[in-house]
Amino acid sequence: MTQQNTVVAQMRQLIQILAKHNHAYYVMDQPTIADSEYDQLFHQLKALEEQHPDLVQPDTPTNTVGAKPLSKFANVTHAVPMLSLGNVFNEEDLYAFARRAEERLPNQKIEYDVELKFDGLAISLWYEHGILVRGVTRGDGETGEDITQNVKTIRNLPKVLSSEKTAVPELLEVRGEVLMPKAGFEKLNAENEAKGEKTFANPRNAAAGSLRQLDPAIAASRPLAFYAYGIAQCEPNHGQSTMSASLEWLTQFGFAVGERHFICDNIQDVQAAYEQINAERPNLSVEIDGMVIKVNDLKQQQTLGFLSREPRWATAYKFPAVAALTTVENIDWQVGRTGTLTPVARLNPVAVGGVTVSNVTLHNIGEIHRLDVRIGDTVSVYRSGDVIPKVEKVWPEFRPNDAVEVHLPECCPVCSSPVVMPEGEALARCSGGLYCAAQRIEAIRHFVSRKALDIEGLGDRWVESLLHLDLLQNVADIYSLHEHREQLLTIEKMGEKSVQNLIDSIENSKKTTLAAFIYALGIRGVGETTARMLANTFQTLDALRNADIEALKKTPDVGEITAEWIVDFFQAPHNLEVVDRLLAAGIHWDAPAAPTRQPLNGESWVITGTLSTMGRDEATQMLQALGARVSGSVSSKTKCVVAGEKAGSKLEKAEKLGVQVMTEAEFLEFVQQY
Ligand code: IVH
Repeated sequence: MTQQNTVVAQMRQLIQILAKHNHAYYVMDQPTIADSEYDQLFHQLKALEEQHPDLVQPDTPTNTVGAKPLSKFANVTHAVPMLSLGNVFNEEDLYAFARRAEERLPNQKIEYDVELKFDGLAISLWYEHGILVRGVTRGDGETGEDITQNVKTIRNLPKVLSSEKTAVPELLEVRGEVLMPKAGFEKLNAENEAKGEKTFANPRNAAAGSLRQLDPAIAASRPLAFYAYGIAQCEPNHGQSTMSASLEWLTQFGFAVGERHFICDNIQDVQAAYEQINAERPNLSVEIDGMVIKVNDLKQQQTLGFLSREPRWATAYKFPAVAALTTVENIDWQVGRTGTLTPVARLNPVAVGGVTVSNVTLHNIGEIHRLDVRIGDTVSVYRSGDVIPKVEKVWPEFRPNDAVEVHLPECCPVCSSPVVMPEGEALARCSGGLYCAAQRIEAIRHFVSRKALDIEGLGDRWVESLLHLDLLQNVADIYSLHEHREQLLTIEKMGEKSVQNLIDSIENSKKTTLAAFIYALGIRGVGETTARMLANTFQTLDALRNADIEALKKTPDVGEITAEWIVDFFQAPHNLEVVDRLLAAGIHWDAPAAPTRQPLNGESWVITGTLSTMGRDEATQMLQALGARVSGSVSSKTKCVVAGEKAGSKLEKAEKLGVQVMTEAEFLEFVQQY
């Protein structure tokens, strides 16, 4: 093969790989390789093209952006193309970027605007006479998809522009990125996991998946946010002369911009900003994959112009790689403090983004099946910012013949009790309850907590020392601690006084209420409210112990599943043994007051905002005393929302759903009648 042929073959190969990944990234929202890996291949191709300009292939991706959009949404041609950015990866590249700018702006002072590089989806927003009329994805940079309906559901994005200081432009096109902030992402994944639904690999995928939903109601239910980073068109002109001033100008209309922003006089300061942002990355509310450096002066930007697909006045400074390949050495099952069994992949240790990763959670058996991961497999491990590392992909082509499939264990690896996985649930659990050593600490913490038996003196430090001395096998042992006074005194920093305080507070806890005792047992699904309802309904512990599912279901707040959990709990012999020991130790309560008429029985109420005459706990107790459930979220089933000062999204939602709303004054008047 001639050298020419070899170069062409190499270019063709790179073009093919890049096209495949471009499609996966831009069209399917399912990246198949890490961004940094993509960038490296892209640069390899670009370097080849620079060396052999006569061999540049007509379909090279180095002068196009992304891929053609799917046809699900209407296509819109961008009035101003949405271009891409070049990349630098180290200080040397950064200086070279600055030098190129300086050469084109001789004898001019250059100031740099440094912004976060958001790792989300670029979109463009059109405002006509201050009204948001259209939202469009980047697509291939020339043509994007019309996602107006979805964009309108993004909460932090102004739908109508107004400002006290400035006239609203006739036409404004704002560019920026849609993201799912980390907290919202973690919450969404936790909720999906609990429901046994699909979880997202990272916030970027979650944001992309949400924006591309054809049903805007789904997008609306996702915690998305928009951050502006530029103005494509503004008529009449906004009159600002720098990038940073134009972003500031946007904020007065309510646009959010990055939470960190620097203006640097020289390129050394840009490098310092990079190091600072990299260090602060885990504390930021959103995922970033680097920072963007822009020449701040807009006239200078115009002079510098564009080179093919990229501006000469801006570049991205990316953070180090976040994905790596390694092998799975083993898969263990860990028992959590609430009894859930979690599979953990033990990896051949590998550096990912500067951190060595050797253990990665696989979440649940469903995830093992979804990934089809086996012991011996080669996997891609992804780590992004402070998001916990995860196995993103298994490479079946590298699977050894002796790879081992993994099954859910039948018995708890800690206490050997049977493992249960109720139908329709994603998580398997140890059925050992109070008996399982892995669940001991959490069971004890819960038992002594304020709303349970309220043993204030038995804090975490005590619990750890007592477990260490093997004095706490289960919660019933708390009431025999006084028999071990000598041993307690051997614990470091625990003198006569603290030991006596502990013993006193344990003694004082013996008088309790039936509701607190039921809650303290830590039965799955039985929170404070349900415990109170159970106490009111059954009146005695014996009646509750002997209740069947049908009887339990008559209790407000108790459905089929919770009823089953309660029956399961009182059927396990070791739980009964613990309960009997607790009663034998002298725990007692007055008979609950005969059930009074509860006018709000079964109703769901929500309290939001700040109340001025009482705390939220107090208002909650008032409502609960009247039989209401107090919930944290508004739905169509909510009976009423009590809205204090600064009530936010919950109030909005209530109004949207037509749910009754009361001010604090109205609420006080309402409860007064009872
Ligand atoms: S300015 C001419 N600023 O990065 C292009 N882009 O890799 C000007 N991005 O498509 C883009 N954060 O989606 C700019 N602060 C920021 C950004 C940012 C993220 C994205 C943007 C762009 C991609 C290029």
